[in-house]
Amino acid sequence: MRVAVVHGPNLRLLGRREPEVYGTETLEDIDRKLDELAGELDVELERFQSNHEGELLDFVDEASARVEGFLINPGALTHTSVALRDALTGVGRPFVEVHLSNTAGRERFRHRSFLAPVASGVVYGFGTQSYLLGLRGLVARLRA
Ligand code: DQA
Repeated sequence: MRVAVVHGPNLRLLGRREPEVYGTETLEDIDRKLDELAGELDVELERFQSNHEGELLDFVDEASARVEGFLINPGALTHTSVALRDALTGVGRPFVEVHLSNTAGRERFRHRSFLAPVASGVVYGFGTQSYLLGLRGLVARLRA
């Protein structure tokens, strides 16, 4: 089983970006922990990060031929992007949305997710653990 991990805008800044909100772990730390878990779960991962909406749409399209599902932190595009939602529904692969922070407890504009209604599930507020819980949930869903 192969899954794509997609990191949206500004997530490459993790470690130095608002550590009081996002913690001090870097994207590389998160990817390493995901790799360890993927080994345990016997899943292959590929990953992609972009600050550009169009590149993310292209990746979702192209990767959908290779992967069975997506684990995605869409960053701020969560709250703005109908296009990313349409890409994910368009390719017809299950996806799980994850966020490091508890978006429901932050500014009002972060409360709405365009993706959540069409996601298999959403995990937010657990820092790096959101990704690990999200991967477990996605794999369970794909194997069900
Ligand atoms: C985020 C939450 C978003 O509101 C924000 O724009 C991000 C990170 C999170 O992981 O907590 O870039 O997706």
